Amino acid sequence: VADQLQQAARALLAANRRQGTALDGRPVAFCCPSPTTYPYQWFWDSCFHAVALSHLEPKWAVEELEALIGAQRPDGFIPHVSFHGGRRPSYWAYVQGRGVRPRSSAMIQPPLLGLAVERVARLTGDDDLRSRLLTAVDRYHEWLFRERDHDGDSLISIISPYESGLDHKPAYDRVLGSHSRAARSLTPRLRLLDIGNKRRGFSLRRNAQGKRFHCEDVLVNVALALSLDSVAASWEAMNESTPASRAREKAASVASALVTKCYDDESGLFWDLYGADERPLDVATISGLTPLALPGLPAAIVKRLVDKLSADDFWTEFPVPSVSTKEPSFRPDAPFSGRSPLIWRGGTWINTNWLLQMGLLRYGYVEQAGHLLERSLRLVERSGFREFYNPLTGEGYGAENFGWSTLVVDMCARQNSA
Ligand code: GLC
Repeated sequence: VADQLQQAARALLAANRRQGTALDGRPVAFCCPSPTTYPYQWFWDSCFHAVALSHLEPKWAVEELEALIGAQRPDGFIPHVSFHGGRRPSYWAYVQGRGVRPRSSAMIQPPLLGLAVERVARLTGDDDLRSRLLTAVDRYHEWLFRERDHDGDSLISIISPYESGLDHKPAYDRVLGSHSRAARSLTPRLRLLDIGNKRRGFSLRRNAQGKRFHCEDVLVNVALALSLDSVAASWEAMNESTPASRAREKAASVASALVTKCYDDESGLFWDLYGADERPLDVATISGLTPLALPGLPAAIVKRLVDKLSADDFWTEFPVPSVSTKEPSFRPDAPFSGRSPLIWRGGTWINTNWLLQMGLLRYGYVEQAGHLLERSLRLVERSGFREFYNPLTGEGYGAENFGWSTLVVDMCARQNSA
């Protein structure tokens, strides 16, 4: 089974490989998330692709990360989607990028790059990778703190739900003004926000001044803390103690801000914080569980998170649903807003399972981690590498031949070494 799985994962990623051109004109190669639905390079998808590829085709893993960094602007920013000179970008791509003919989007995604670099370096034994890529990753983190931590509390803000990576997560319904359970008006509201963001130059400061969308998203900050921690480990592996301790301190300040500002002991979850007054968005989604992946969490919080994860609102037949089954907005299937599909409203996704398995293993919950892996494997065997799955029946939905669902390969490796 393991061999077959690896072959299928490799074949999928091989079929999704695309050639393109970096900002400086160099040729790059990367995997698109899905040939039909997502034909360009997406930021956190590529981090996941690179991790999976380390087990399957190490050379491609390195190229995937180089392509991602090839889209870095001189100021350090790395976009959430890079077209790499690909076909004419569609309407949404135009709206989410700068100028008339954007080469990329102007938004971010959960910043897992440092984590991907360290995991790939470790799995492939390519020590050189660190010295080639780490400076770029540091510059990217510096951009995030400079441009996205306007109140200086170490938590970075997003200016659009798309930046959270969980596009239609119901925690954001309210603040977008979408009040119906079916989220009928969500897509047009998101379009208006896109247009507004383009007009405001994708600036957090302008969004904050004008009381527009800005939110300290839990998963985004978990990704940042993990990425910084990995960067610290990478610098340590290179015997560079000064940048290592700088990254380590930054990681700790992000993690401790998450604990002091976002953790809610009553629910046992972490809440996203909205707007200048940091209003907690108390909707139980998978984001609220992801701090489990962080190192050094207080034992009492670890226990509450694991209890919450193992309770029936999240521990479904095929865990972990992106929204608690107890939320009125929970949808196990693939709902629509008008004619547009909605995602992240209850389906199970492999990338968040990968994150939670990391946390379960970190804190010694080997059995629960094994169960999560076994169910993730069943999803892929039954329904193929789909974008997401029904948490109750295992049916597959959304994009087909979806890249990051190959992360099950890395989940197997992690479980084996636990
Ligand atoms: C969807 C997901 C986002 C992902 C993208 C490409 O927009 O919400 O997280 O990066 O698809 O797969």
